[in-house]
Amino acid sequence: MYLGLDLGTSGVKAMLMDDNQRIVGSASGALDVSRPHPGWSEQDPADWVRATEQAISGLKAAHPAALAAVRGIGLSGQMHGATLLDADDKVLRPCILWNDTRSFREAAALDADPQFRAITGNIVFPGFTAPKLVWVRENEPDLFAKVRWVLLPKDYLRLWLTGEHISEMSDSAGTAWLDTGKRRWSESLLSATGMDERQMPDLVEGTDRAGALRSELASRWGMGDGVVVAGGAGDNAASACGMGTVGEGHAFVSLGTSGVLFAANASYLPNPASAVHAFCHALPNTWHQMGVILSATDALNWYSGIAGRSAADLSTELGDTLKTPGGVTFLPYLSGERTPHNDAGIRGAFAGLGHESSRVVLTQAVMEGVSFAIRDSLEALRAAGTTLTRVTAIGGGSRSRYWLKSIATALDLPVDLPADGDFGAAFGAARLGLIAATGADPVATCHPPKTAQTIAPDTGLVAAYEEAYQRYRRLYPAIKGAAT
Ligand code: XUL
Repeated sequence: MYLGLDLGTSGVKAMLMDDNQRIVGSASGALDVSRPHPGWSEQDPADWVRATEQAISGLKAAHPAALAAVRGIGLSGQMHGATLLDADDKVLRPCILWNDTRSFREAAALDADPQFRAITGNIVFPGFTAPKLVWVRENEPDLFAKVRWVLLPKDYLRLWLTGEHISEMSDSAGTAWLDTGKRRWSESLLSATGMDERQMPDLVEGTDRAGALRSELASRWGMGDGVVVAGGAGDNAASACGMGTVGEGHAFVSLGTSGVLFAANASYLPNPASAVHAFCHALPNTWHQMGVILSATDALNWYSGIAGRSAADLSTELGDTLKTPGGVTFLPYLSGERTPHNDAGIRGAFAGLGHESSRVVLTQAVMEGVSFAIRDSLEALRAAGTTLTRVTAIGGGSRSRYWLKSIATALDLPVDLPADGDFGAAFGAARLGLIAATGADPVATCHPPKTAQTIAPDTGLVAAYEEAYQRYRRLYPAIKGAAT
């Protein structure tokens, strides 16, 4: 039996998986985000521990024998957060989370130093960890002087579970301190932020063993001695392990609050100029690229609030037959954009509105706008050397048949829908726990789910979509120019 723990932003999910990768049960514990000032987003690490205990208690109540039989634990977590500890492992301040933008000036300053893009292969985005430490150094110098350890959120959970200061490659690639190609900390980037390597945890691969469960916790949960804790992964890489997106050319598009186009790579293929994230994967000697758009289902939910209809009703009203893009174009930059613009200040737009622009026309434009934003990520991945022949769709937005057809046609790629099941980050983490505990082959273990259905591009509309995409592309510079 194996346990996957995914420390998300809104809660911790714990999942039990048996030796045949069947899900035995899952439970969760809720988390809140505190926003004491505009742009700030923080959590108390003690709440992560509380939510994890709550989730595991839920499993213990429902499946005590299965929980007691756990041999390996895998960790997944929200990326980029700065958890600061003193020499006694005491938490110095609330963790500054991935979606906290207070350090945008510090990020821009680090990004202007060419060694950051050269060594990490990424833009220094405001959400990444290094600029947060520069902010703390400048704004909380007494506290900065006490920082003995900087841990990513799931690695703080590992410290609680095992007593070890260890991280792994996929999450560490989101700090802006990792030499992503060499898979090791960069002393020179650390020193550019007033830090040094002794403040960073040791690094292992996500599939490696990274500590053993403390006996006090093992006995509380009814487990035996020697339960292995795997390196684990950042949540996107963990989801990819769950989805079997580990081999060259495999990709998924996730239509959640934000949208992600994720591709696995057999080699390190950075291209910061197109705002692609190039990170280590959780499997040894494997990397991945990711285009991130900040509003996917969020865009439809925003429009649904204005239209006074649920997102599902809007989608039903549109029907299942893909329509030719009309004259209305929507830019989904409701909270700025990462890929391809790296522009926190840009905001969305409708262009081409006329008297005939009804509610349903705007629903169509909103879905098309998100499809075109994902097409932008596909172009960014292509510019970074990745060729995709198909993608698998996951996330809440993939329940809309219209949206899937629109994405397939905008990307001109077949879109696969997985058979029913939960292939998310907690499942991927459980697979990493299995690999670390048994030495099972990582690629064979992280196999893709069965495809329930494939949505083909609408060949009759590919050309019209291409034309509409080119209109969409021309709008960003025009709006940027007009707004500044
Ligand atoms: C990835 C990112 C998010 C967080 C959220 O770069 O910022 O996906 O990992 O959980």
